[in-house]
Order: sequence, then C-alpha cells, then structure tokens
Amino acid sequence: MHKPVAGHGRIASAAGAVEAGGDTHLAGRTVDALEGLSGVHPGERRAHAKGVCCRAVFTPSGLAAGITTAAHLCEKGREIEAFVRFSGSSSDPSLPDLLSPGKGLAVRFGPPGSDSSVLTAVTIPVFFAKTPESFLDLIKEANRLKGGGIGAVAAAAELAAHFPEARHSLMHIGKLLPPASYATCRYYAIHVFNLIDGAGNRRPVKFEWMPELGVETLPMAEFRSLPEDYLELDVAARMKEGPIRFRLNIVLGREEDPMDDPTLPWPDDRDRIDAGMLDVTDVIDDPDADGLAMDPTATGPGIEPSDDPILRFRSPVYGESWRRRRLGE
Ligand code: HEM
Repeated sequence: MHKPVAGHGRIASAAGAVEAGGDTHLAGRTVDALEGLSGVHPGERRAHAKGVCCRAVFTPSGLAAGITTAAHLCEKGREIEAFVRFSGSSSDPSLPDLLSPGKGLAVRFGPPGSDSSVLTAVTIPVFFAKTPESFLDLIKEANRLKGGGIGAVAAAAELAAHFPEARHSLMHIGKLLPPASYATCRYYAIHVFNLIDGAGNRRPVKFEWMPELGVETLPMAEFRSLPEDYLELDVAARMKEGPIRFRLNIVLGREEDPMDDPTLPWPDDRDRIDAGMLDVTDVIDDPDADGLAMDPTATGPGIEPSDDPILRFRSPVYGESWRRRRLGE
C-alpha cells in the first residue's frame, strides 16, 4: 500500500543535530542494502518498519540538573510532552510481532522544534558494527546469506565468523525472547552522548529505559495462539487501564570506558542517575504521526552526540529513508 507522508511528515531535527552532509552517497547505498533484506515497502521505514505511535509525558526527577542544561532532564517535576514510537526491528512491516527479534523505543521530548530532543533505543545493549562501512558490508553479507536460503541460526554463525566486532551483539540477539509486551522491555540507547552543564563542562553518558513493570518475556505455550499484532494490541489495551511507565537511567561513564565504539559495553557497575519517569498514555490514531523521522543526533541543547561514527552516520541514513518513504517510494 502506498503511504506518502508529505503532509505532516518531518525530520525531527533540533539544535545539536549533526549536519546531514556526511557521506550521503554511502547513506544511499546503505538504505539500498536495507531494502534488500525484505524488499521495498512503499512509504515505510527501511528499518523498524512496523510500529505504534503514542502520546506520553516525561517528568524529570531533577537529579541530572547539575550535569546538563537540557530542559527535559533538569527541571524537576515539570511535565514535558513527549512523542513515543514502539517498533519491531525488521524492515518488513508485515512481519508478525513474534518474529521480529529486537524491539525499539523512540522518544521525542517536547514538541517538534529546535529545542526538542530525540532518544532512540533498542532491546540489546551493543550494536553489531563500529563503522558505517562495516555496517554496510554486514548487511550485504546478510542479504547474500538470505539469498542462499540459509537459516537464521546458521546465518548468525556465518556473520559472527566474518565480523568479529558483531559477536557481542549477535550473542545478545540470539538470546532475545519475545517480550510479553512493549511495556516489559528494557531499552538501551547504546551510543555515548555528552551532557553539557551551564559552565560548558562535558560528561560522557549512556541512556537506558527501565520498565516500571519489570522485564517479562512471553511463555512459550502462548506463542501459537498470538495474533500477529499482539504487541500493538497489548499496548492499546494496557493504556486503557493506565499509563505504561519507564524510568530513564543516565549511566555515567569513566575515563577508561570506550566512547566511540557502539559494539563495546561499559561495565555494569557504572553509577546511574534516575533522571525521571516516562508515562505513555495513549495511542495516536493518525497515520501521519508515523511520518515523523527520529534523527538520533537531534539531541537539543545540553546534550551532544559523541564522535561515535555509527551515531553520526545514522543522521543521513534516517534522512534518506525518510525522503524515500515520504515520496511514497
Ligand atoms: C549504521 C547503523 C544504523 C542504521 C544504518 C540504521 C538504519 C535505520 C533506518 C533506515 C531506520 C528508519 C528511519 C526512518 O525512516 O525514519 C531506523 C529506525 C530505527 N533505528 Fe536504526 N539504524 C542504525 C543503528 C541503530 C542503533 C544503534 C539503534 C539503537 C540505539 C537504532 C534504533 C532504531 C530505532 C528505535 C528506529 C525506529 C525509529 C522510529 O520509530 O521512528 N538504530 N534505523
């Protein structure tokens, strides 16, 4: 189905967004490669194609006030309007929820504009490529393996053998079980960002969302009886009873931690700040809402993207994916 989104679709850019200059040619080739995974689905995202958009409110705890000027993180108790999109990681929008391994949570704090801040997160803590070039090589290899009819487990083993940097991430993907709900996943923003305080001091951090209900996966006995859209149906049903809640943790990095390599984790014992609570309140029943693109480098004032080349490359890639789907391609 054609789904041009020219009307309300817009790139969620903000102060701090990396200029989309970068390698736009490489970005185009990367989107081509992503299209190879499940074909072109006109009007849809080239990754995380299936999703549900919701209204939300974020209430900062104020505990991060000393280390950032970002309004949504430091003004204690102020209710910040937010836009949320839950998604499955596949590039195929018709893939049943059960079959798409990783899940995503994209949040825009504040109304669209230069002060809004985007945070995208997934259910694995590390990524499978450390440079745009290796990401492209890996997706091309995945396409080649798929063309050869090889199963998912064997394909993952092949990829791990050829791309050692992907091993950690592939191990996490291999262990993922279908979640009971989007509301019971822990989501990691993976990359390092710098928080900037009023004096201009920078502090490297990572972000993660902790589900208020705890992490819960689906009992295997339920797999067969599930509707294809079970996660979307569940979100709508839950919110009739009350908001779905996530706590935002800011993980404080130390000097010795890797700062620009998303394939490497930080040690678990890093200090964390409880930065506030996200209340997801209701589904946005408007197809145009889905037209929005969440540029992960659009961080707004008080936060800046690190030099992680994958993080910076995501900006032109998301721009290209958005451009194509906006034209109904
Ligand atoms: C080179 C690395 C990556 C590439 C090429 C890539 C590519 C894409 C593309 C093409 C989209 C659709 C964009 C749109 O049309 O709006 C997308 C969406 C998304 N990606 Fe990535 N991605 C990368 C890394 C990551 C990482 C590291 C994360 C996790 C932190 C992530 C999380 C997401 C999420 C949550 C969405 C859905 C956003 C929404 O709901 O609008 N991606 N990605």
